[in-house]
Amino acid sequence: MLESPIQSKVHDEARQGEALLLEKEPGKGRRKLYIESYGCQMNFSDSEIVASILLDNGFETTGYYNDADVVFINTCSIRENAEQRVRTRLGDFKRAKRENPGMIVGVLGCMAERLKSKFLEEEKLVDLVVGPDAYRDLPNLIAKVEDGNRSVNVLLSREETYADISPVRLNSNGITAFISIMRGCDNMCSFCVVPFTRGRERSRDPESIVKEAKDLFEAGYREVTLLGQNVDSYKHKGENDEEIVNFAKLLALVADVSPLLRVRFSTSHPKDITDEVLHTIAKYPNICNYIHLPIQSGNSRVLELMNRTYSREWYIDRINAIRRIIPDCGISTDIISGFCTETEEDHQDTLSIMDLVQYDYAYMFTYSERPGTLAAKRYEDDVPEEVKKRRLTEIVHKQRGHSLFRLENQIGKVHRVLIEGYSKKSDQDYCGRNDQNAMVVFPKGSYKIGDYVNVIGETCTSATLIGRIID
Ligand code: SAH
Ligand code: SF4
Ligand code: F3S
Repeated sequence: MLESPIQSKVHDEARQGEALLLEKEPGKGRRKLYIESYGCQMNFSDSEIVASILLDNGFETTGYYNDADVVFINTCSIRENAEQRVRTRLGDFKRAKRENPGMIVGVLGCMAERLKSKFLEEEKLVDLVVGPDAYRDLPNLIAKVEDGNRSVNVLLSREETYADISPVRLNSNGITAFISIMRGCDNMCSFCVVPFTRGRERSRDPESIVKEAKDLFEAGYREVTLLGQNVDSYKHKGENDEEIVNFAKLLALVADVSPLLRVRFSTSHPKDITDEVLHTIAKYPNICNYIHLPIQSGNSRVLELMNRTYSREWYIDRINAIRRIIPDCGISTDIISGFCTETEEDHQDTLSIMDLVQYDYAYMFTYSERPGTLAAKRYEDDVPEEVKKRRLTEIVHKQRGHSLFRLENQIGKVHRVLIEGYSKKSDQDYCGRNDQNAMVVFPKGSYKIGDYVNVIGETCTSATLIGRIID
C-alpha cells in the first residue's frame, strides 16, 4: 500500500521483507523474538501489535533469526510473487531450525489466513499459523507449541481492531509513525485477495486513534499516517452516541492534536472519496496535500470487470475535484496491466488517463490471478504474460516521464519539509518529504531530525528533489 516517495519503478509489493527491531530492549533473561514483515504497511503495523503482545509476555526482540527462540514471518498474498518470496525466506528459517530444533517458526498474516492448516501440511517445519485477527492468542498458541502441538488460529473477527494495544514502534526513526484506523475490506474488487485474508471491514474507535496520535506527538513524533484499505469508508460512533465520525471528521480530530503534527493517510478509494474530505484537507495546513488514489485501469469496461464500482469518467471527476479544492495536491496511484480480457485499446485508455492526471508517483503491477477471488472464478486470465509485461513496461516508461516532470516543476519553489533522517548517500545531508510527499534532500545546516525547515528546490533526479534550507 505504501512506500517511500515519488519515484517510478515496478513494484512487487509495497515493501520488501524487513526485520523489525525494537531499539530500546526492555530487559535481560527474556526469550527472543525475531519478526520479519512483507506486504503492505498494514502488515508492518500489525507486526508492531504482535511485538507489543509478546513483549508483555516475557519476550524481547532480536535482529538475528539465528539467535531467536521464536521466528515470525508476517506474510502477504497480494500477488503470486509475494507468496513466492515468503516461501524462499521460509527456507532460510527452516535451515536455522534444523540447527536449533527448539526454535519456533510461525507464519502470520495474509498467507496464513489464505492457506490455513494447509500450511502445516506443506511446510513440515512450521509450528504456528496465525491469521491477522488472532494475534491476541499468540502467547497461548506458543505455549501449545512448547507442549508439542503445532497450532493454527485463523479465525477472522467482525470486531477486532486491537484498539487497546499500544504498538511498540519497531525500527522507528522516532519522527513518523503509522496508525491503523480500520481493518478488513468490504469491497469485492474481483482481482483482490484482501477481503478473504483480512475479513470484513471494521473501524477502530476515534478516541483510541486520537489518543495514539497524542501519545506519539508527546513522544516527539511529528507525522502520523492513518492506515486502512479504504479510509474513506471509515465510520464510527463518536463519544456522544448520536454523532457518527466519518473519515473527514476523524482527519480533523487527528489534525487538531497539534499544528506541528503532520497527518497523512492511505488508501483512498475513488468511489468513496468525498468533497468533505477534500475540504478538510484544504482547511488544515497540517493535513498533507497528498492523495493515493488507485485507478487500476483507465477503461470503464475493465473497471467494471474489476468490480471497482466507478468508471473512467467518475475517476476523472474526482481528480478534477482534487485539483479544484486542493490545487497543489500530490497524487499517486496503483495500476494493473493485463487484467482479464484487456485489449490494446483498453490499455491505451490507461496510458491516456495517465497523461491526463500526470501522477507524481505510481505503483505498477502485472495482473496475477489469485485463487478464490471473483476474477479467478469468473474470468479467464487470458492476456499472455509477455503482453502483460510489455504493457507494464509502457506504463512504467510513461510514469517515469511524469514523475520527472512533476519534480522538475518543484524546482525554484519553497517546500516545507519535516526532517526525517540522514540522506542515504551522505551524513552531511538530511532527507524528508514535502507536503506533496516528494522526497527532498538538502545540506543539514544546524537543524535536527524532527525539525521543520523551508527548502528551496534546486535540481532533481527522477525520484528526489535536491535543494537547500533558506531559513
Ligand atoms: N485497498 C487498496 C489496495 C490494496 S492492494 C485499494 O483499493 O486501492 C495494493 C494494490 O495491489 C492494488 O491497488 C492493486 O493495484 C494491486 N493488486 C491487488 N491485487 C492484485 C492482483 N491480483 N494482481 C496484481 N496486482 C494486484
Ligand atoms: Fe482489495 Fe479492492 Fe479492498 Fe483495495 S478496495 S483491498 S483492491 S478489495
Ligand atoms: Fe497487505 Fe498483502 Fe495482506 S498487501 S493486506 S499484506 S495480502
